[in-house]
Amino acid sequence: MTQLKGYVNTEYLQTVGEFISNLKQRSYTLMQIHPGQTILDVGCGPASDTIQLAHLVGQVGKVFGVDHDQNMIDEAEKCAEIAGVSGWVKHKCADSGSLPFETNTFDACRSERVFQHLLDPEQTLSEMIRVTKVGGRVAVLDTDWSSFSIDTPEVDIERRLARVNAERVLNNGYSGRQLYRLFKRQELTDITIEIHPLVVTDYTFARQCAVLDEIEYIALTEYSFTDQEIQRWHTYLEQADVSGTFFGSINQVMAVGRKPR
Ligand SMILES: C[S@@+](CC[C@H](N)C(=O)[O-])C[C@H]1O[C@@H](n2cnc3c(N)ncnc32)[C@H](O)[C@@H]1O
Repeated sequence: MTQLKGYVNTEYLQTVGEFISNLKQRSYTLMQIHPGQTILDVGCGPASDTIQLAHLVGQVGKVFGVDHDQNMIDEAEKCAEIAGVSGWVKHKCADSGSLPFETNTFDACRSERVFQHLLDPEQTLSEMIRVTKVGGRVAVLDTDWSSFSIDTPEVDIERRLARVNAERVLNNGYSGRQLYRLFKRQELTDITIEIHPLVVTDYTFARQCAVLDEIEYIALTEYSFTDQEIQRWHTYLEQADVSGTFFGSINQVMAVGRKPR
């Protein structure tokens, strides 16, 4: 498939997945997953969560992952095979806005860092609710890119770059802070909202996680940024890197609710 807006590869997802592994665990806990259940992960990437979920439900349960990128699905199937869980984990290529499952199929359904890519996140949430059993838990973890923050005296450049990312690099960069509204509108009950701040003090890692190369390239080629501005931005961050004072942070928003009767 052609590369979509905000595309990231499997290596990126594995690196970030390790960095936020405690958040993944927290989402499984809030979903109250236990052996024998049937679980769905929407936008599953290269089996970023389905293998862990497979261990939680055990061989008496079932896990499905869907992703619209066939390369992710191929990688996910390969990883599940290697992990020895392919007997009860299945990955399918499908769009999150039209899930290929019957209504009331899953005990719980999750989606992580996918809504930021969606043009119609409410359609995906409504599909997730449809395929979940009444009383089952629906969990969405997503980034609030408006909280993206890097310590620099070049505040104007930093704020403008943050907007390029949220409004141009991603389809739905403010997804995290919309979740409460979407969950309420879809009439989910027992809603839990948690904010999890992430801190990065390694400049190279921050550049990779926040796709800074791509943001800066788009800022230069499509917006009114100048080479001098990007140079100034780099100079300070490189100095911070050398002096061990680089600091960046961002919030992840976790929303969990139950399908109403
Ligand atoms: C940032 S990755 C997150 C992957 C995984 N959830 C994780 O935590 O590592 C976003 C994933 O959503 C998938 N995706 C984006 N839009 C989608 C859509 N409309 N339907 C299904 N999958 C989608 C992408 O292909 C990608 O694998």
